[in-house]
Amino acid sequence: MSRRKSPTGRVAYVDGRYLPHAAASVHIEDRGLQFADSVYEVCAVNGGLLMDEAGHLNRLERSLHELAMELPMQRQALKAVMRETLRRNRLKDGLLYLQVTRGAYRRDHMIPDAKRPSLIVTARAIDPQTYEKRRAEGIAVATVPDIRWGRCDIKTTGLLPNVLAKTKARQAGAYEAWLVDAKGCITEGSSTNAWIVTKDDVLITRDLASNILAGVTRAGVFAALSRAGINAVEERAFTLAEAHAAREAFISSASGGVLPVVRIDGRPVGDGKPGATTLRSHSLYRELAAEEARGRPSGLHGESAEKQPIKRRS
Ligand code: PDD
Repeated sequence: MSRRKSPTGRVAYVDGRYLPHAAASVHIEDRGLQFADSVYEVCAVNGGLLMDEAGHLNRLERSLHELAMELPMQRQALKAVMRETLRRNRLKDGLLYLQVTRGAYRRDHMIPDAKRPSLIVTARAIDPQTYEKRRAEGIAVATVPDIRWGRCDIKTTGLLPNVLAKTKARQAGAYEAWLVDAKGCITEGSSTNAWIVTKDDVLITRDLASNILAGVTRAGVFAALSRAGINAVEERAFTLAEAHAAREAFISSASGGVLPVVRIDGRPVGDGKPGATTLRSHSLYRELAAEEARGRPSGLHGESAEKQPIKRRS
C-alpha cells in the first residue's frame, strides 16, 4: 500500500507548539487513543473564511462539559490558535480540525482526577470543486442499521460504528450511509445530518435528542430558511418509506454544506436530480454563514440550538 504524502509545509498545533504535520504526535498512553476519551470539531474554511466558528466552539464546550473535561485554554486563546494554524498552513479552502483529549495517564478505565487535557489543531486543504461537483451531480446514500451508543449528541472520537457504516456504504457504491434505528426511522448520516423534502415542499430532519449530533450546519440551515421566510420545516423522525417517497433529500455537514441525495439504496429520489429546495437551502445557508464569518452579526449562533440542553431518548 502506498502512503499518500502530506503536502510540504503542512503544520499542526499540539499542546503549545506548531510542528511539521508529520512530526506532530501525542503520547502512546493518551486516553483519546486508548478509550476514545476525546472530543473533536471540524470547521469548514471557504475562501479564507472560518465558517460557523461560534457554533462549533459552543458545541465543543458542550461536549467537554458532558464528559467533565476542560478546554486547555480560554476560548479567545483557542480562536487565536485556530487562526494561526490557518495562517501557517496558508489555508483558503478546506477543513480545520480540533481535538481535545483527556490526556495521557497510566491505563485505567476510571477517569483520573487530575486534569491535563491535550489540544490538537490541524488544517487540510480541499479543492472546493470536489464538493461543487458532488453538489451538481448529487450523491447516493445506502442505509445501514444504527448500532451506535446512547450519547451520539456528544461529538467524541468514538466513531467506529460510523466508520463501519461509511465503509459499508462506499462498498455498496454510495457516498454516505444513512443510519436506521430499530423503528425503521433515519437518525442521521455517518458524518452528516439527514433531511428530506416532501412532495408538499416541507423540509424534515430528525429532532435533537441523544441519538443524533446537533449539527452546526443543520442549525445554520434552520436559521437561513427562517431568515428567508421559509417556515415549512419539521424536526421529527421520518421513516425510510417516507424518504423513498420524498421529492428531494439532502445531507448537511461542515465539510460539504448541503449536498443533494439523489439515490437511496439504489432507488432514485424524486426525479433523480438535485432538487431546487435543496440547492436553495445550500445557498441561503452559505450566504448567512459567510456574513457571520465576515463579522456581520447574523444571529446565527447566538444562543442557538446546539447550546440548548438536548433531551435524552430512553
Ligand atoms: N461530521 N452527524 C454526525 C454523526 C457527524 O459526525 C457530523 C459532522 C454531523 C454534521 O455536523 P456539522 O454540521 O456540525 O458538521 C452530523 C464531521 C464533519 C466529521 O466528522 O468530519
